[in-house]
Order: sequence, then structure tokens, then C-alpha cells
Amino acid sequence: MSSEARIGLLGRGTVGGAFADLVEARAGAVADVSGRRPQISGVLRRSEGDFGEILGGSDIVVELIGGTDPARDYVLRALEAGKHVVTANKQLIAQHGDELFAAARKAGVQLRFEAAVAGVVPVIRVISESLAATEVTKVFGIVNGTTNFILTEMARTGASFADALAHAQELGYAEADPTDDVGGADAAAKMAILARLAFDTPVRLDDVSYEGITEISPEDMAYAKELGLSLKLLGVAELSEEGVSVRVFPCFLYPGHPLAPVEGPFNAVMVQAPAITEITMSGPGAGGLATATAVLGDVVSILAGEAPVHETRRELPIVSDVASSFYVHLEVADRPGVLAAVADVLGQAGISVKSMVQRGAGEQARLVMVLHETSERAFYGALAELAKLDFMRADPRAIRVIEEQFG
Ligand SMILES: NC(=O)c1ccc[n+]([C@@H]2O[C@H](COP(=O)([O-])OP(=O)(O)OC[C@H]3O[C@@H](n4cnc5c(N)ncnc54)[C@H](OP(=O)(O)O)[C@@H]3O)[C@@H](O)[C@H]2O)c1
Repeated sequence: MSSEARIGLLGRGTVGGAFADLVEARAGAVADVSGRRPQISGVLRRSEGDFGEILGGSDIVVELIGGTDPARDYVLRALEAGKHVVTANKQLIAQHGDELFAAARKAGVQLRFEAAVAGVVPVIRVISESLAATEVTKVFGIVNGTTNFILTEMARTGASFADALAHAQELGYAEADPTDDVGGADAAAKMAILARLAFDTPVRLDDVSYEGITEISPEDMAYAKELGLSLKLLGVAELSEEGVSVRVFPCFLYPGHPLAPVEGPFNAVMVQAPAITEITMSGPGAGGLATATAVLGDVVSILAGEAPVHETRRELPIVSDVASSFYVHLEVADRPGVLAAVADVLGQAGISVKSMVQRGAGEQARLVMVLHETSERAFYGALAELAKLDFMRADPRAIRVIEEQFG
């Protein structure tokens, strides 16, 4: 006969509600694999429950409120009281990870957060446990389903960003206030977490440079199609000799790239290390039931007694200038010498052109290029020079491109 594991549930909204139902439906299955039968022993909502009482009556606290206040205080108090904690809260881990991991270690309890990045796709477990024996050198992927849905819509229908966002909101893929998703902040928090785990170094939210997708135009998408590229909002965390760089940016991919076919609200994360070459994981990055499944998976791991608490083992410098290749869209006056002047600015900066499309004439003339990989600092310097040329009819636009071809 299995003993009971009492779960104090903080928050019973989209994920918390699905989690409570799932615990009821799967309690027997969890008992079979872990030897303990989970049961919700108390629920805290704005309108229900008392935190102190819930804490006293639970073995594991599951935090599904979101945000950092009051979630940080509750989670800290739970850890200090010797309770294991499971959370799906990326902001909490990205902003207060140092403090929370220290509290968990001090109390000798587990803090698990699989659902905080890429929903039910088990990236946290794979990076911090399955691949603990190798030195991961790069983690990158699509970690925000809202923006991937919007970009997929824009590519499929030719819609503007605003129309695709409105459609995502209608279908429940974007929140009423989508700022954090479309501006890249949500993906930045997730990449800070992945980088910390992958490289064993404290990566904070401020260390992540990020851009969103609000400036992407239907024209960019049309040109991309012509060049055989697809656009994704990518998070990239990389280890180099100089240190660690963590960035989020919209980026064109060639069709053979494993992330190119990841469409709609799906997430996908790739992990690279010399010993393993490359692993790609993909699946639903959000949704009540999928996310609750990851949360209950963490509960199972705790009950089965696995896994140490994450600990940073070194402090690596954060690198700001890295190499990238770019797509550049220039609106120019159609007159002799334009191409040579553009080539001259790029050449001075040591940048070479990989492919180019020229369209229109007179006031409609456009140059769209994909450039070979170069230092971002050199590129942005050249872009500023291009903007000054007198035949330029609008500010140049630039989007990164992943140059490798796979498959
Ligand atoms: N939704 C997803 O697909 C998804 C995916 C991955 C991760 N997550 C993460 O999962 C967490 C929960 O998200 P959700 O979508 O389930 O949120 P939600 O639907 O807004 O639910 C939040 C719950 O927390 C409760 N709550 C809010 N403020 C509180 C306070 N001050 N004190 C006590 N309870 C409070 C709410 O109480 P009331 O019921 O009284 O309003 C509600 O039950 C977040 O960290 C989110 O980032 C969500």
C-alpha cells in the first residue's frame, strides 16, 4: 500500500486547474512508478486558502501563480520550511534563481521547474540530468509559441504583424497584453534559465540581449520566401573561449535547418555538444494540460527521489559581440552607382554578400541581400554607414540568418 504525498497547490488557473484534475486522474499511475500517491491537500487562490495552513499540511508545494510577487515569497518560505517545490514560473527562476537554488540547497530539498521552459518538452531534464556528463556548447531554439504562431501566420497568409497577432489572440495563443511575448522578454527569461543550466554559470535576465518580432513586415516575409528562407524568433545561448552569450532575435533559417519546419505554437530546442553532436526536442510549449503534465512529471521525479539541486560551478564572462550573418533590406533610388556604393561600404567592413535580389525601378527600387557571417559590431557599423548614403529612401532593415545548411 503506497503512502500519500500531500501537495499544496498555489494558483488554480489554466495550469493549476489542469494540474489538479491530472493529479486526480493519474494518482494511481504515479503511485505505481514512485511508491507514493499524490493528493492535493490545499489550494491557494486570491479568493481561497491560507498559505501558512497549506504549507503546514503539504510535503510538496506546487507554485502555479506566476509573476514574482507573491510567488517568490511563497516559494522561499516553502523551501525554508523543508518542502520540495515545483514551479512553472520562468520569471521567478530567471530573476531569483540564485536565491532560490541556495535556499533549496540549504534546506536539502528539490526545486524543479521543467514547465518553465518549452512547456512539456523536457529540455530542463535533458540539459541538467541526461547530458550532465558532457560539456554543452550551444543551446538554441524556438521557446515562445505565441511568436512562432504569429510568424507562421504571416508566412502562410501574407498577413501583417498586427493582423496575425489579432488572430493569435482570437485563438488563445496570445494574451490580451502580448508585450512580453512579441517583444522577446518571455523568450529571454527562458534562455537565461537554459544558459544557466547548460553552462553551470549564473546567467541573469540582464545578461540576455533580446529583440522581438514587432518590426517584421509582410515584405520581409515575401522576400524571405523568394530566397527560400523561413523566419523564427530564436533564443541562442553559446559557450565560447571568451565566455557565454545569450541572445533572442528574429532570424531567417534555410529550409534544411531542423528548426525551419517547426510551425504554429510549437516549441523546439536544440542542444549541441562535441560528444553528442546535436539533439533536437520539440512539442507543445504551452497549454493547460501539456504544462500540467510537465509539472506532474516533476512531482514524480521528486517522489522517486532523483536529482540534485542545480548549482553554478563557475562564473563565466558574458560576451556581447558574436558572429552572425544577416538579411538586409535596402530601399534605394534607382540610379547608377548604387550597387557599387553599397558593395564598397560592406567591403570596407570586411563583409561579403552571399545572395542578392534586386527589384523595382525608380522610387520602388529595393536591394535584398543575405550576407556571409561577420562580427555583429562590424555589421552594425556598416549598417549605420549604409543609412547615411544619399540614395537611401528609408532606414535599412536587418534580420539575422542562420547560415548552416543541414540534412
Ligand atoms: N498557461 C500556459 O500555457 C503556461 C505554460 C507554461 C508555463 N505557464 C506558467 O504557469 C504559471 C501559471 O499560469 P496560468 O496560465 O495557469 O495563470 P492563470 O490562469 O492566470 O492562474 C493564476 C492562478 O494564480 C492565482 N493567483 C494570482 N495571484 C495570486 C495571489 N496574489 N495570491 C494567490 N493566488 C494568486 C489565481 O487566483 P484566482 O483563481 O483567484 O484568480 C489563479 O488561480 C505561470 O508562471 C505561467 O508563466 C503557463
